[in-house]
Amino acid sequence: MLYENPKIKKIAVLTSGGDAPGMNAAIRAVVRATIYYEKESVAVYRGYDGLIAGDYEPMTARSVSNIIQRGGTILKTARSKEFMTTEGRAKAAANLRAQNIDALVVIGGDGTFRGATRLYEEYGINVVGIPGTIDNDLAGTDYTIGYDTACNTVIKAIDAIRDTASSHNRLFFIEVMGRDSGFIALRSAIAAGVEAVLIPEHLITIPELITKLETGAKNKKTSSLVVVAEGGKSGNAMEIAAKVEEQFSHYDTKVTVLGHVQRGGTPSCADREIASKLGVAAVEAILMGKTGVMVGIINNSLAITPFEDVVITKKVINLETFRINEILAV
Ligand code: F6P
Repeated sequence: MLYENPKIKKIAVLTSGGDAPGMNAAIRAVVRATIYYEKESVAVYRGYDGLIAGDYEPMTARSVSNIIQRGGTILKTARSKEFMTTEGRAKAAANLRAQNIDALVVIGGDGTFRGATRLYEEYGINVVGIPGTIDNDLAGTDYTIGYDTACNTVIKAIDAIRDTASSHNRLFFIEVMGRDSGFIALRSAIAAGVEAVLIPEHLITIPELITKLETGAKNKKTSSLVVVAEGGKSGNAMEIAAKVEEQFSHYDTKVTVLGHVQRGGTPSCADREIASKLGVAAVEAILMGKTGVMVGIINNSLAITPFEDVVITKKVINLETFRINEILAV
């Protein structure tokens, strides 16, 4: 076996924060790698809430059969308020010790990693993180688990909307997820070939948007699609549509909010692949004695980043994509 570490006997895994397609593939990989390395595997249900409540279950290789293709998370998830308190974290750490759990793998987004950092720093618990969020807004990895599937769900929906938009000569505003980040919006916008995209990281004013739409109309476009991230700087899709309509009543405007449909569904090949690789990498990081870190993929290679860098660094969105979209929407 490549990695030996007699000090580690039992490894637990949990999912936390918003669910993301591919989390099950990551759980499967963590459990199977743990068993491959002849360690005991334990699942924790309902994220940090379950860690505090002691909602644990021993896992075998067969416990994770037939889940690689399923969306959601078989371990359930939560945005735990109790874990934000000192008492909650103390309880969680005490439970882990009482269960003789030597290391914990957490799968989630930025909130999950902030929690993991506290557990690692305050209580010296060996924690390794796997990036799992549809938002893709985590530093230390090019892609988070769930992002690719969510983008595929979005472009499928936009393709369908385009059919009806062009039949009726309508202007559609399509709202996608991303409270604080425009990764889903920007990637889906270019892949679906929309006229404009509004994201939290970059301001496009309403007059600028209208100029774009008017230019399109002059260039004989009879319908237009605008993707809006839910945390867009100029407002959400409803608000923007209302402002545009106010000034240009000749537009027949519609709004579609895609919502939680983006969080579910069968994970894509890319998400299953990174989830599987990162699940193994997380267990191997623990066996190598590397904890307080997140495993990720940068330029197609495994990257191991300390939690502190993950939580303080804002992942930069490539605004060059705007320029490309501008060219393509002519
Ligand atoms: O973090 C993932 C995410 O889907 C965001 O894009 C979205 O803003 C948020 O979660 C919604 O969270 P909830 O399901 O708790 O309402």
